[in-house]
Amino acid sequence: MKYFITTILIFKLTTSFCISENNDYFQINYSKLIAEKKNKKLVGNISNGKEVFSSRKVNCLSCHEAPIKEEKFQGNFGPSLIGVGARYNKEEIRLRVIDTKIINPESIMPSYFKKINYARTPKNLLNKTILSAQEVEDIVEYLYSLK
Ligand code: HEC
Repeated sequence: MKYFITTILIFKLTTSFCISENNDYFQINYSKLIAEKKNKKLVGNISNGKEVFSSRKVNCLSCHEAPIKEEKFQGNFGPSLIGVGARYNKEEIRLRVIDTKIINPESIMPSYFKKINYARTPKNLLNKTILSAQEVEDIVEYLYSLK
């Protein structure tokens, strides 16, 4: 009986950990595969999003095609993002930008809002994310506008 209760308790604890993960800005729902915004003050801006998206800092364009004529070199490792806002809602796009490996652990796409702390991470990058929460929101707004 004791074992039974302990097993149930452990099961309960682990499942509540798995279903959602919290940080100050976003809440990931692992069963629905979405990332909700927690901080209402965080509002994305389409033109900033387009700028970050096109910047070489994040290199989205090295793998994706997008409707930006000025950018001549666009990649095709990932799906074209033309019309992505008609295929997904903001919560679905947000999860893909934050950490697409939650959906496909084999994905070659970097996790843009996941703290880096591998054994060999240089000290200046430790516990940092590639994009800030604001940049994630800007990119989400930009991609959602592509319909
Ligand atoms: C190294 C290549 C690579 C880079 C860089 C990259 N992606 Fe991706 N991305 C992919 C691949 C591959 C997929 C397909 C999903 C998978 O891997 O399971 C994908 C999927 C996506 C999707 C879902 C598209 C769909 O139709 O399902 C979105 C949205 C997306 N990426 C946005 C971005 C953004 C925004 C950036 C830059 C901040 C970026 N990606 C950078 C490779 C990349």
